[in-house]
Amino acid sequence: MKSLVLTGTKKMEIQDLQKPTPKADEVLVNTKYAGICGTDHALYNGLPGSANAVPPIVLGHENSGIVAAVGSDVKGFKVGDRVTVDPNIYCGKCFYCRTGRPELCDSLSAVGVTRNGGLEEYFTAPSEVVYHLPDEVSLKAGATTEPLSCAVHGVQLLKLTPYQKALVIGDGFMGQLFVQLLGAYGVHQVDLAGIIDDKLQLNKDKFGVTNIYNTTRDKIPSDYDVVIEAVGLPQTQEEAVEATRKGAQVLMFGVGKPDQHFQMNTYEVYQKQLTIQGSFINPRSFEDSIALLASGKVNVEPLISHELGLEQVADVLEGKVAGVSKAVVKID
Ligand SMILES: NC(=O)c1ccc[n+]([C@@H]2O[C@H](COP(=O)([O-])OP(=O)(O)OC[C@H]3O[C@@H](n4cnc5c(N)ncnc54)[C@H](O)[C@@H]3O)[C@@H](O)[C@H]2O)c1
Ligand SMILES: [Zn+2]
Ligand SMILES: [Zn+2]
Repeated sequence: MKSLVLTGTKKMEIQDLQKPTPKADEVLVNTKYAGICGTDHALYNGLPGSANAVPPIVLGHENSGIVAAVGSDVKGFKVGDRVTVDPNIYCGKCFYCRTGRPELCDSLSAVGVTRNGGLEEYFTAPSEVVYHLPDEVSLKAGATTEPLSCAVHGVQLLKLTPYQKALVIGDGFMGQLFVQLLGAYGVHQVDLAGIIDDKLQLNKDKFGVTNIYNTTRDKIPSDYDVVIEAVGLPQTQEEAVEATRKGAQVLMFGVGKPDQHFQMNTYEVYQKQLTIQGSFINPRSFEDSIALLASGKVNVEPLISHELGLEQVADVLEGKVAGVSKAVVKID
């Protein structure tokens, strides 16, 4: 079968690998779509993602496909089912797993990171991380369930209620998902700050954003109950804290460099009684994400900018493809 193998740092090649056989508790998935994200950029460049990837490995932690075979112990899935796979596999035994915070697991493994993922024709996954896609969710949209479920985890870490006014900083794929998600979770006003006028305007015209700010020229008011930082730069992290009013919550969702710091007025944290909340991956948030996609409360297809073949993945990861907001790879 055709597989795109990461063979070393910044090295990828198409290889003809043997189709895997599912173990007793595993499902074999015939991949239809795989999404590419910042984690893949990190892994391609030899940096860790949610876990370390050791080449040779097939990436593709965001994916959708059709069940091609099931192991002898698998219940609830049959050949032909449309599915998506939550990449993260938790140990269930460590302190964090045993205290209900599996995303912090000390022995995290992941499909498309520590074991082969969706950038090939067939891959296997334990049935416990495989989810059915209802007919209303296309296989293309289904491949974005994983990033959406990271955003869902982020909003679930906040206390959201209708009176709140929210600001999203970052007009990338994740920032735009948060715009729709905050609406779905009942926040009455969502504003968006970014640097690309077309994307800002699209979110105002189509996805219910009230005010847009281009941070290269506009000042963001200090007026928000909820601020979501979805860029990951020190400058935008500072802006996120500064945009708060009293009693606000700030979700630090963007991923900075491992040694990155930013400046924050700690008196303001005290005096405004701020909550600064981190967010890591997507524990048990696939069902909510699939429901949001199926109901149309989150519409991802207009946010997918590129549909590519396996041959073009390295170019995307090298930054040679212009204007990528969200790229999905169609696996034939
Ligand atoms: N916490 C998690 O579990 C998790 C999961 C997925 C992604 N992330 C992180 O979320 C962030 C966003 O992800 P993405 O896929 O949308 O990335 P992206 O690179 O597609 O988007 C970043 C966006 O930020 C915008 N931007 C750059 N400078 C800006 C500025 N000064 N002000 C406002 N906007 C600015 C860019 O226009 C771009 O659209 C990344 O840091 C990513 O690593 C975190
Ligand atoms: Zn991802
Ligand atoms: Zn664990």
